[in-house]
Amino acid sequence: MSKKRILTGHRPTGPRHIGHLVGTLENWKSLQDTHECFFLVADLHVLTTGHAQSERIQDNILNMLADWLATGIDPSRSTIVLQSIIPEHAQLSLLFSMLTTVARLERMPTYKEQIKELNLQPSLGLLTYPVLQAADILLYKAQVVPVGEDQLPHIELAREIARRFNQTYGELFPEPEALLSKAARLPGVDNRTMHTSYGNAIYLRDTEEEVERKVMAMYTDPTRIHAADLGHVDGNPVFAYHDIFNPDKDQVEDFKIRYRKGKVGDVEVKRCLVDVLNTYLAPFRERRAEYIAQPKILLEVLFSGTVKAKFIAQQTLEEVHQKMGLLHSQSFSEKVLANNISGIFC
Ligand code: TRP
Repeated sequence: MSKKRILTGHRPTGPRHIGHLVGTLENWKSLQDTHECFFLVADLHVLTTGHAQSERIQDNILNMLADWLATGIDPSRSTIVLQSIIPEHAQLSLLFSMLTTVARLERMPTYKEQIKELNLQPSLGLLTYPVLQAADILLYKAQVVPVGEDQLPHIELAREIARRFNQTYGELFPEPEALLSKAARLPGVDNRTMHTSYGNAIYLRDTEEEVERKVMAMYTDPTRIHAADLGHVDGNPVFAYHDIFNPDKDQVEDFKIRYRKGKVGDVEVKRCLVDVLNTYLAPFRERRAEYIAQPKILLEVLFSGTVKAKFIAQQTLEEVHQKMGLLHSQSFSEKVLANNISGIFC
Protein backbone atom coordinates (compact mmCIF):
# COMPACT_ATOMS: atom_id res chain seq x y z
CA MET A 1 0.00 0.00 0.00
CA SER A 2 1.28 3.46 -0.77
CA LYS A 3 2.06 5.77 2.10
CA LYS A 4 -0.49 8.36 3.16
CA ARG A 5 0.43 11.93 2.42
CA ILE A 6 1.01 14.46 5.19
CA LEU A 7 1.11 18.20 4.93
CA THR A 8 1.93 20.34 7.91
CA GLY A 9 3.89 23.48 8.54
CA HIS A 10 4.89 26.42 10.67
CA ARG A 11 4.85 30.14 10.18
CA PRO A 12 8.48 31.28 10.01
CA THR A 13 8.43 33.48 13.09
CA GLY A 14 12.11 32.83 13.92
CA PRO A 15 14.20 30.13 15.56
CA ARG A 16 12.38 27.16 17.09
CA HIS A 17 12.17 26.65 20.84
CA ILE A 18 12.24 23.44 22.85
CA GLY A 19 8.43 23.48 23.03
CA HIS A 20 8.38 23.11 19.23
CA LEU A 21 10.92 20.34 19.54
CA VAL A 22 9.04 18.13 21.98
CA GLY A 23 5.59 19.17 20.75
CA THR A 24 5.99 18.89 16.99
CA LEU A 25 9.41 18.40 15.49
CA GLU A 26 10.11 15.04 17.12
CA ASN A 27 6.71 13.90 15.94
CA TRP A 28 7.34 15.11 12.38
CA LYS A 29 10.69 13.38 12.40
CA SER A 30 9.21 9.96 13.11
CA LEU A 31 6.26 10.47 10.75
CA GLN A 32 8.80 10.53 7.93
CA ASP A 33 9.17 6.75 8.38
CA THR A 34 5.51 6.02 7.81
CA HIS A 35 4.19 8.83 5.59
CA GLU A 36 5.03 10.87 2.55
CA CYS A 37 5.68 14.23 4.17
CA PHE A 38 5.34 17.81 2.95
CA PHE A 39 6.54 20.47 5.38
CA LEU A 40 5.36 23.97 4.59
CA VAL A 41 7.15 27.20 5.40
CA ALA A 42 4.00 29.30 5.68
CA ASP A 43 5.48 32.73 5.06
CA LEU A 44 2.29 34.26 3.62
CA HIS A 45 0.53 33.45 6.86
CA VAL A 46 3.08 35.54 8.76
CA LEU A 47 1.84 38.63 6.95
CA THR A 48 -1.72 38.20 8.25
CA THR A 49 -0.79 39.82 11.54
CA GLY A 50 2.36 41.73 10.66
CA HIS A 51 2.46 42.96 7.11
CA ALA A 52 4.88 45.72 8.08
CA GLN A 53 7.49 43.37 9.57
CA SER A 54 8.34 41.62 6.35
CA GLU A 55 12.02 42.58 6.36
CA ARG A 56 12.69 39.89 8.98
CA ILE A 57 10.96 37.09 7.14
CA GLN A 58 13.95 35.87 5.15
CA ASP A 59 16.17 35.67 8.20
CA ASN A 60 13.39 33.93 10.11
CA ILE A 61 12.91 31.39 7.33
CA LEU A 62 16.59 30.39 7.41
CA ASN A 63 16.61 30.15 11.19
CA MET A 64 13.49 28.01 11.25
CA LEU A 65 14.76 25.80 8.48
CA ALA A 66 18.12 25.25 10.21
CA ASP A 67 16.23 24.07 13.29
CA TRP A 68 13.98 21.79 11.25
CA LEU A 69 16.96 20.10 9.65
CA ALA A 70 18.91 19.97 12.92
CA THR A 71 16.06 18.06 14.55
CA GLY A 72 15.93 15.45 11.82
CA ILE A 73 13.60 16.72 9.12
CA ASP A 74 15.23 15.01 6.19
CA PRO A 75 15.01 16.72 2.79
CA SER A 76 16.08 13.54 1.01
CA ARG A 77 12.84 11.89 2.17
CA SER A 78 10.48 14.83 2.71
CA THR A 79 9.48 17.82 0.66
CA ILE A 80 10.04 21.26 2.16
CA VAL A 81 7.88 23.89 0.48
CA LEU A 82 8.10 27.67 0.52
CA GLN A 83 4.50 28.87 0.29
CA SER A 84 5.00 32.31 -1.25
CA ILE A 85 6.98 30.94 -4.21
CA ILE A 86 4.06 28.85 -5.42
CA PRO A 87 1.24 31.19 -6.52
CA GLU A 88 -1.17 28.24 -6.65
CA HIS A 89 -1.55 28.52 -2.86
CA ALA A 90 -3.01 31.99 -3.21
CA GLN A 91 -5.02 31.05 -6.29
CA LEU A 92 -6.66 28.06 -4.66
CA SER A 93 -7.32 30.13 -1.55
CA LEU A 94 -9.19 32.66 -3.69
CA LEU A 95 -11.31 29.94 -5.28
CA PHE A 96 -12.03 28.40 -1.87
CA SER A 97 -13.06 31.79 -0.53
CA MET A 98 -16.06 31.53 -2.87
CA LEU A 99 -17.16 28.40 -0.98
CA THR A 100 -16.82 29.93 2.49
CA THR A 101 -19.10 32.42 4.21
CA VAL A 102 -17.78 35.45 6.05
CA ALA A 103 -19.89 34.46 9.07
CA ARG A 104 -18.19 31.07 9.24
CA LEU A 105 -14.77 32.71 9.34
CA GLU A 106 -15.81 35.34 11.87
CA ARG A 107 -16.77 32.54 14.26
CA MET A 108 -13.29 30.97 14.18
CA PRO A 109 -11.92 30.91 17.76
CA THR A 110 -8.39 31.62 16.50
CA TYR A 111 -9.60 34.76 14.70
CA LYS A 112 -11.49 36.06 17.72
CA GLU A 113 -8.54 35.40 19.99
CA GLN A 114 -6.04 37.13 17.71
CA ILE A 115 -8.18 40.24 17.49
CA LYS A 116 -8.49 40.39 21.24
CA GLU A 117 -4.87 39.63 21.96
CA LEU A 118 -3.29 41.86 19.33
CA ASN A 119 -5.85 44.59 19.76
CA LEU A 120 -5.91 45.30 16.05
CA GLN A 121 -8.25 46.05 13.23
CA PRO A 122 -8.27 42.68 11.49
CA SER A 123 -7.19 42.60 7.88
CA LEU A 124 -9.09 40.66 5.26
CA GLY A 125 -6.03 38.39 5.16
CA LEU A 126 -6.41 37.53 8.85
CA LEU A 127 -10.07 36.64 8.31
CA THR A 128 -9.21 34.33 5.42
CA TYR A 129 -6.16 32.81 7.17
CA PRO A 130 -7.90 29.41 7.56
CA VAL A 131 -8.98 29.41 3.91
CA LEU A 132 -5.36 29.80 2.84
CA GLN A 133 -4.48 26.98 5.22
CA ALA A 134 -7.16 24.78 3.63
CA ALA A 135 -5.60 25.57 0.25
CA ASP A 136 -2.14 24.60 1.59
CA ILE A 137 -3.46 21.20 2.60
CA LEU A 138 -5.76 20.42 -0.32
CA LEU A 139 -3.38 21.64 -3.02
CA TYR A 140 -1.32 18.52 -2.25
CA LYS A 141 -4.40 16.37 -1.51
CA ALA A 142 -2.92 15.59 1.88
CA GLN A 143 -4.82 13.01 3.90
CA VAL A 144 -3.24 13.67 7.28
CA VAL A 145 -2.37 16.95 8.99
CA PRO A 146 -0.33 16.75 12.21
CA VAL A 147 -1.13 19.85 14.27
CA GLY A 148 -1.55 21.15 17.79
CA GLU A 149 -4.95 21.38 19.39
CA ASP A 150 -5.34 25.10 18.66
CA GLN A 151 -5.33 24.31 14.92
CA LEU A 152 -8.23 21.83 14.99
CA PRO A 153 -10.88 24.39 13.92
CA HIS A 154 -8.76 25.12 10.84
CA ILE A 155 -8.60 21.45 9.86
CA GLU A 156 -12.35 21.20 10.36
CA LEU A 157 -12.78 24.06 7.89
CA ALA A 158 -10.48 22.36 5.39
CA ARG A 159 -12.66 19.25 5.66
CA GLU A 160 -15.80 21.30 5.06
CA ILE A 161 -14.30 22.99 2.03
CA ALA A 162 -13.19 19.63 0.59
CA ARG A 163 -16.70 18.23 1.10
CA ARG A 164 -18.41 21.25 -0.37
CA PHE A 165 -16.11 21.29 -3.36
CA ASN A 166 -16.59 17.56 -4.03
CA GLN A 167 -20.36 17.80 -3.72
CA THR A 168 -20.63 20.82 -5.96
CA TYR A 169 -18.09 20.07 -8.66
CA GLY A 170 -17.30 16.35 -8.39
CA GLU A 171 -14.84 14.27 -6.33
CA LEU A 172 -11.37 15.74 -6.21
CA PHE A 173 -10.15 16.20 -2.64
CA PRO A 174 -9.70 13.76 0.25
CA GLU A 175 -11.10 15.00 3.57
CA PRO A 176 -7.91 15.63 5.55
CA GLU A 177 -7.66 14.25 9.06
CA ALA A 178 -5.97 16.03 11.94
CA LEU A 179 -3.33 14.12 13.82
CA LEU A 180 -2.81 15.46 17.34
CA SER A 181 0.65 15.18 18.80
CA LYS A 182 0.78 13.13 22.00
CA ALA A 183 3.38 15.28 23.71
CA ALA A 184 2.21 17.45 26.58
CA ARG A 185 2.53 21.17 26.14
CA LEU A 186 5.76 22.48 27.57
CA PRO A 187 5.41 25.49 29.86
CA GLY A 188 7.63 28.52 29.34
CA VAL A 189 10.12 29.63 31.97
CA ASP A 190 7.39 31.84 33.48
CA ASN A 191 4.92 28.92 33.55
CA ARG A 192 2.70 30.36 30.80
CA THR A 193 2.53 28.50 27.48
CA MET A 194 5.91 28.72 25.77
CA HIS A 195 5.60 31.31 23.05
CA THR A 196 8.11 33.36 21.05
CA SER A 197 6.19 36.57 21.64
CA TYR A 198 6.02 36.06 25.43
CA GLY A 199 9.82 36.11 25.84
CA ASN A 200 9.61 32.91 27.94
CA ALA A 201 11.13 30.38 25.54
CA ILE A 202 14.35 28.38 25.52
CA TYR A 203 15.63 28.16 21.95
CA LEU A 204 17.55 25.39 20.26
CA ARG A 205 20.17 27.97 19.40
CA ASP A 206 20.56 29.31 22.95
CA THR A 207 24.11 29.08 24.25
CA GLU A 208 24.91 27.16 27.42
CA GLU A 209 25.06 30.45 29.30
CA GLU A 210 21.67 31.55 28.01
CA VAL A 211 20.13 28.25 29.06
CA GLU A 212 21.69 28.65 32.48
CA ARG A 213 20.43 32.20 32.88
CA LYS A 214 16.90 31.24 31.86
CA VAL A 215 16.69 28.13 34.01
CA MET A 216 18.10 29.80 37.12
CA ALA A 217 15.46 32.54 36.78
CA MET A 218 12.70 30.04 36.12
CA TYR A 219 9.35 30.14 37.87
CA THR A 220 9.03 27.52 40.61
CA ASP A 221 6.69 26.98 43.53
CA PRO A 222 5.56 30.49 44.53
CA THR A 223 4.44 29.30 47.98
CA ARG A 224 7.91 28.21 48.92
CA ILE A 225 10.05 30.98 50.38
CA HIS A 226 12.82 28.99 52.11
CA ALA A 227 14.47 25.75 51.04
CA ALA A 228 13.14 24.11 54.19
CA ASP A 229 9.49 24.90 53.30
CA LEU A 230 7.46 22.02 51.90
CA GLY A 231 7.42 22.31 48.12
CA HIS A 232 4.96 21.59 45.30
CA VAL A 233 6.02 19.54 42.35
CA ASP A 234 2.81 19.60 40.32
CA GLY A 235 2.41 22.68 38.16
CA ASN A 236 6.07 23.49 38.76
CA PRO A 237 7.80 23.90 35.39
CA VAL A 238 11.22 22.92 36.78
CA PHE A 239 9.85 19.44 37.43
CA ALA A 240 7.86 19.37 34.18
CA TYR A 241 11.22 19.88 32.41
CA HIS A 242 12.96 17.23 34.52
CA ASP A 243 10.18 14.78 33.65
CA ILE A 244 10.67 15.34 29.94
CA PHE A 245 14.40 15.90 29.56
CA ASN A 246 16.15 14.15 32.44
CA PRO A 247 16.95 10.55 31.45
CA ASP A 248 17.84 9.65 35.07
CA LYS A 249 14.35 8.90 36.39
CA ASP A 250 15.61 7.83 39.82
CA GLN A 251 17.26 11.17 40.28
CA VAL A 252 14.03 12.97 39.35
CA GLU A 253 12.05 10.84 41.81
CA ASP A 254 14.58 11.56 44.54
CA PHE A 255 14.39 15.32 43.86
CA LYS A 256 10.61 15.21 44.01
CA ILE A 257 10.53 13.36 47.33
CA ARG A 258 13.05 15.74 48.89
CA TYR A 259 11.41 18.83 47.38
CA ARG A 260 8.02 17.94 48.86
CA LYS A 261 9.65 17.49 52.26
CA GLY A 262 11.64 20.70 52.10
CA LYS A 263 14.93 18.80 51.88
CA VAL A 264 16.33 20.25 48.68
CA GLY A 265 16.60 23.83 47.47
CA ASP A 266 15.43 25.20 44.11
CA VAL A 267 19.00 26.08 43.23
CA GLU A 268 20.17 22.46 43.35
CA VAL A 269 17.24 21.20 41.29
CA LYS A 270 17.75 23.99 38.76
CA ARG A 271 21.53 23.50 38.54
CA CYS A 272 20.92 19.91 37.63
CA LEU A 273 18.30 20.94 35.04
CA VAL A 274 20.82 23.31 33.42
CA ASP A 275 23.17 20.35 32.89
CA VAL A 276 20.39 18.09 31.68
CA LEU A 277 19.15 20.65 29.15
CA ASN A 278 22.60 21.55 27.92
CA THR A 279 23.47 17.89 27.38
CA TYR A 280 20.20 17.36 25.56
CA LEU A 281 20.57 20.46 23.38
CA ALA A 282 24.26 20.07 22.51
CA PRO A 283 23.83 17.95 19.34
CA PHE A 284 20.98 20.13 18.01
CA ARG A 285 22.95 23.29 18.70
CA GLU A 286 25.93 21.92 16.84
CA ARG A 287 23.98 20.78 13.79
CA ARG A 288 21.97 23.99 13.52
CA ALA A 289 25.17 26.05 13.69
CA GLU A 290 26.55 24.05 10.77
CA TYR A 291 23.47 24.81 8.69
CA ILE A 292 23.41 28.48 9.64
CA ALA A 293 27.02 28.72 8.51
CA GLN A 294 26.01 27.38 5.09
CA PRO A 295 22.88 29.25 4.02
CA LYS A 296 23.44 28.01 0.47
CA ILE A 297 22.54 24.48 1.58
CA LEU A 298 19.39 25.76 3.24
CA LEU A 299 18.38 27.64 0.11
CA GLU A 300 19.03 24.58 -2.04
CA VAL A 301 16.82 22.47 0.20
CA LEU A 302 14.06 25.06 -0.07
CA PHE A 303 14.48 25.35 -3.81
CA SER A 304 14.43 21.65 -4.63
CA GLY A 305 11.42 20.95 -2.39
CA THR A 306 9.53 23.90 -3.80
CA VAL A 307 10.20 22.86 -7.40
CA LYS A 308 8.86 19.39 -6.68
CA ALA A 309 5.79 20.79 -4.95
CA LYS A 310 5.14 23.23 -7.77
CA PHE A 311 4.43 20.38 -10.21
CA ILE A 312 1.79 18.91 -7.93
CA ALA A 313 0.30 22.31 -7.16
CA GLN A 314 0.02 23.18 -10.82
CA GLN A 315 -1.68 19.93 -11.64
CA THR A 316 -4.22 20.25 -8.82
CA LEU A 317 -5.05 23.78 -9.86
CA GLU A 318 -5.65 22.61 -13.42
CA GLU A 319 -8.02 19.96 -12.10
CA VAL A 320 -9.82 22.54 -9.97
CA HIS A 321 -10.23 24.84 -12.96
CA GLN A 322 -11.62 22.02 -15.02
CA LYS A 323 -14.08 20.92 -12.35
CA MET A 324 -15.24 24.49 -11.69
CA GLY A 325 -15.80 25.11 -15.38
CA LEU A 326 -12.99 27.62 -15.68
CA LEU A 327 -10.64 27.55 -18.63
CA HIS A 328 -7.90 25.03 -18.51
CA SER A 329 -4.81 27.19 -18.68
CA GLN A 330 -2.63 24.72 -20.57
CA SER A 331 -5.16 24.01 -23.30
CA PHE A 332 -5.94 27.73 -23.36
CA SER A 333 -2.37 28.62 -24.22
CA GLU A 334 -2.06 25.75 -26.67
CA LYS A 335 -5.13 26.85 -28.56
CA VAL A 336 -4.09 30.48 -28.58
CA LEU A 337 -0.67 29.51 -29.92
CA ALA A 338 -2.30 27.30 -32.55
CA ASN A 339 -4.56 30.19 -33.46
CA ASN A 340 -7.59 28.01 -32.76
CA ILE A 341 -9.48 30.74 -30.91
CA SER A 342 -12.92 29.44 -31.78
CA GLY A 343 -12.16 26.10 -30.06
CA ILE A 344 -11.31 27.69 -26.72
CA PHE A 345 -14.80 28.18 -25.40
CA CYS A 346 -16.31 24.85 -26.34
N1 TRP B 1 -1.49 27.77 10.97
C1 TRP B 1 -0.37 26.91 11.25
C2 TRP B 1 0.26 27.37 12.56
O1 TRP B 1 0.21 28.52 12.90
C3 TRP B 1 0.67 26.94 10.15
C4 TRP B 1 0.13 26.37 8.86
C5 TRP B 1 -0.06 27.06 7.69
C6 TRP B 1 -0.25 25.03 8.63
N2 TRP B 1 -0.53 26.22 6.73
C7 TRP B 1 -0.68 24.97 7.27
C8 TRP B 1 -0.29 23.87 9.44
C9 TRP B 1 -1.17 23.77 6.72
C10 TRP B 1 -0.78 22.70 8.88
C11 TRP B 1 -1.22 22.65 7.54
O2 TRP B 1 0.85 26.56 13.24
